[in-house]
Amino acid sequence: MGFSDKMKNIFKKDNKDETEKKHYLSGAEVRNIAKANLKITRELEKKKKRKAAESEFISEMKDSGNILEIENLHSYFFTDQGTVKAVNGVSFNIPQGSTVGVVGESGCGKSVTSMSVMQLLQGPQGQIVEGSIRFKSLDFKRDEKGQPIPVYEYGESGEILYEDAYDRKGNPVIDLETGKIAKTQKQKRDEYGTRQYEMEEKVFDIAQMPIKEMYRLRGRQMAMIFQEPMTSLNPVFTIGDQLDEVTLLHVPGATRQEAKRRSIEMLNLVGIAMPERVYKSFPHELSGGMRQRVMIAMALEGNPRLIIADEPTTALDVTIQAQILDLLRGLKDRINGSILLITHDLGIIAEMADYVVVMYAGRIIEQGTASEIFHNPMHPYTIGLQKSKPTMQSDSDVLFSIPGNVPNPINMPDYCYFRERCSKCVKKCAGDYPEMIQVSPTHWVACHLYAEEKKNEN
Ligand SMILES: Nc1ncnc2c1ncn2[C@@H]1O[C@H](COP(=O)(O)OP(=O)(O)O)[C@@H](O)[C@H]1O
Ligand code: SF4
Ligand SMILES: [Mg+2]
Repeated sequence: MGFSDKMKNIFKKDNKDETEKKHYLSGAEVRNIAKANLKITRELEKKKKRKAAESEFISEMKDSGNILEIENLHSYFFTDQGTVKAVNGVSFNIPQGSTVGVVGESGCGKSVTSMSVMQLLQGPQGQIVEGSIRFKSLDFKRDEKGQPIPVYEYGESGEILYEDAYDRKGNPVIDLETGKIAKTQKQKRDEYGTRQYEMEEKVFDIAQMPIKEMYRLRGRQMAMIFQEPMTSLNPVFTIGDQLDEVTLLHVPGATRQEAKRRSIEMLNLVGIAMPERVYKSFPHELSGGMRQRVMIAMALEGNPRLIIADEPTTALDVTIQAQILDLLRGLKDRINGSILLITHDLGIIAEMADYVVVMYAGRIIEQGTASEIFHNPMHPYTIGLQKSKPTMQSDSDVLFSIPGNVPNPINMPDYCYFRERCSKCVKKCAGDYPEMIQVSPTHWVACHLYAEEKKNEN
């Protein structure tokens, strides 16, 4: 190939990629976008900061067996270059007690989905713009004054029992009249010594919740485990201080001693052999695997119903990765919780998940039970992901990877986003974006190949 041919090719490439060209915006265009963004994001921020009665964000589950129902979620980033539709119409459920794995290549919107569930998107750019996130919460029941109602312990013949009263710092409260330790009605504790209150189930639509109300859920009913433990651990406080803090914050009336007891129990639960020592350590004194265990202990501290684990083991080496996955699996059953597990690693999903959601460029392209996704993958992208999974049998150490790129997120085409990379294209693929097609009670796929099949059957 001569020099001029090469130039022609380069030129052709430049010309071909229309979306790439649109990346270069004039100053005036950027200013216009910024102005429009400001208008939209101001509205959305106002909504998040509003004072709202509970009735404005209380909701109902479509299926009472679910703990979380995400429906038609759109989460965008309003940037000066345009709107990044990071999550663009995502719907899936988490049945109570199950693990749902969300998988897809880097940048497909997995983390933005999980951050939306916690309302942790970085505003004003990042915003939930549409959809519902229904969460079945188990919250303190409150009396007319808004106080949580303790559960008391009674004697064998139903008589009221009393116990010594302690203040928050754990010092006994002295009765000024008698000079003795004051008595208070005996409150019930759980197996970790944590005070029990009357609870009630309520369904909240997180997408409608003012950000201030999220404290009821975050860290208590839903907890997050990140890839990098140092993002949730504070380097200047001991592990013990940070664990205690969760209990002191979330359990009314908890004393320092009670908080410490719970912290040590949680460290035990996550398989830490010397919990007392770790309790007194600072984060930097622990290994990566230990820090990850501590972060899981911290997530459990608040007794969550839903754990969101975003690439929980990606930063760890293989042996420790296996240990942490084992730990998560065991814990789910112990706390009767549910897990939203996010990873780019299909191998982890295969080991952990009951249901699998496959994301591509901000949308779900296939979902089903783990068995359906692994034994009968239908979308060409899922099939490609499957092939790119390293196995013990493959003797080559070159990973298969699906060639080609994801379209520019600011300027998505209106046809199938996978088309440029798909080797199974049919004529219809030039047309509209494929709809979700149900292929079993639990299996859905968005691909024209199966729409064709369905039509032929009819
Ligand atoms: N703060 C941000 N500003 C603009 N775009 C963002 C921001 N955070 C994430 N995105 C975009 O959102 C998309 C999804 O990102 P993410 O959910 O982090 O992907 P992953 O599936 O790897 O977790 C990506 O295209 C990413 O570039
Ligand atoms: S709709 Fe067409 S282009 Fe898209 S994945 Fe299916 S076959 Fe491939
Ligand atoms: Mg991510």
